[in-house]
Amino acid sequence: MNILDGKHVSQVILSNAKQQIEQMQAKIGRVPGLAVIIAGNNPASASYVKSKAKKSAQAGIHSTLIEFDAAVSEEQIIDKIIDLNQDASVDGILVQLPLPGHLNQWKILDHIHPKKDVDCFHPLNQGRILLDRSSIFPCTPAGIIKLLDYYNIEIKGLNAAVIGRSFIVGKPMAALLTNRHATVTLCHSRTRNLPELLRRMDLIVSAVGIPDTVTADMVTENVILIDVGINHIANYEDAVRLCDQEETAKFSRKGYAITGDISKQAFKKSSWFTPVPGGVGLMTVALLIENTVALFNQHHSLV
Ligand code: GUN
Repeated sequence: MNILDGKHVSQVILSNAKQQIEQMQAKIGRVPGLAVIIAGNNPASASYVKSKAKKSAQAGIHSTLIEFDAAVSEEQIIDKIIDLNQDASVDGILVQLPLPGHLNQWKILDHIHPKKDVDCFHPLNQGRILLDRSSIFPCTPAGIIKLLDYYNIEIKGLNAAVIGRSFIVGKPMAALLTNRHATVTLCHSRTRNLPELLRRMDLIVSAVGIPDTVTADMVTENVILIDVGINHIANYEDAVRLCDQEETAKFSRKGYAITGDISKQAFKKSSWFTPVPGGVGLMTVALLIENTVALFNQHHSLV
């Protein structure tokens, strides 16, 4: 049971990005610019965006947060995106999801210029991912591949299951693993006999957002377990049952604890696993920074 340490690897990525940004500033005379749009007051989104802004600033990126209230119209967000598309100091644009329910996310995301699409959510970029012709990839799946590469885990030939078929994580994760020559099964809420299927897997990525989606009886010895879930547990007994000891100890101070989709007992059977917190979440932010730097380089034809 070895840890895929997202805290360590994300710090390595951040310090490399910081060095690159210092060199860019000397050469080009400006630093990469990232614009983050958030609408409404989803507490989880607010906390992710705060962490994205803080880490971007640490790396030397100029990040701008654009906040709209929950009643914002599609047109107001689209007008802002059109401005940002034309702003030469902005290299990457991110619209934090989910958006308030009355907004059509596709209409909004489609307006981000594909060359400023730091999340890789534009249909053109999603197509490039499938063709393995993109220079950047959605932050969470790209972060997971980086983590596996950092620990020299060979992906080629693995039987891999991805649970969850969102365009943010599951679908691009399946594409990235396929591009790296894994044999991939993309599972979801209608998948029949998930436990039996999972027991045949060498690698499992769970991106569902439900604790205990993967339990010890569903996995084989030495499986690699990647946990994308970030679930808030507000009841102490549940926290004791579901969260690791360090996280449970924080319960009285925070009033909640965090756990992923995969049970601690399942981790005990694994060869490698990502802890929650301290695994995939930190890699997502690190890859956002790496993607912003890559878009800046492309913007200035440095690559
Ligand atoms: N919401 C959850 N994950 C993400 C992400 O990677 N990007 C954006 N824009 N929103 C998210």
